[in-house]
Amino acid sequence: MKKLLLAPSILSADFTALASSIKKIEDAAADWIHIDVMDGSFVPNISFGQPIVKALRPVTKLPFDVHLMINNPEQHIETFAKAGADWITFHWENVIHCHRLVQQIHALGKKAGISIVPSTPVSALEAVLPYVDLILIMSVNPGFGGQKLIEPCLHKIPELVRLREQNGFSYLISVDGGVNGENVSRVIETGVDVIVSGSAFFDGSLHWEKYRQ
Ligand code: DX5
Ligand code: ZN
Repeated sequence: MKKLLLAPSILSADFTALASSIKKIEDAAADWIHIDVMDGSFVPNISFGQPIVKALRPVTKLPFDVHLMINNPEQHIETFAKAGADWITFHWENVIHCHRLVQQIHALGKKAGISIVPSTPVSALEAVLPYVDLILIMSVNPGFGGQKLIEPCLHKIPELVRLREQNGFSYLISVDGGVNGENVSRVIETGVDVIVSGSAFFDGSLHWEKYRQ
């Protein structure tokens, strides 16, 4: 059985003590650090950029799962790669040349992910599924932590599992937004590979110890 991965989002961490938030992630035996990059244009909020990724890189060996909620991501891929990103995920909605961007990320020696917002169907991804390493299903509208999970988004996960099995694809499936202690077992039942959690991880209500494999 494939291991279920947890990727806590430092968007909900204490920004005055990011290194100790990372220690908390390591102590919980989580797998990746999810880093939400927002530009105030593609999404309404602004978070942080490459300098934070670079500053945190020496603090941990855990992979950095960088989620770019920014316009023109192709202009920033290289600097995020150099800053220490391991997985680089961009959004399908604002990139015309998705396949080119996946190639660009691979050429930098990094894993490439594509994310879709709640209103984008899985069918939009059909042409890129053979090339991509990660599909990130947004289960809230991107921009803020602490929102309520939009349940119908979860139906996209079994659909992606089926497409992967039928076609022999190898992408991981990640879910991001609103996962908490109340809904996490339902989320796991969808067949998802990676769970992103911000507020529920850091406020202690996710209870990951019950699900850790
Ligand atoms: C939302 C971000 C998420 C968010 C998750 O735009 O992509 O990663 O931080 O936070 P919670 O788990 O609080 O919804
Ligand atoms: Zn995210």
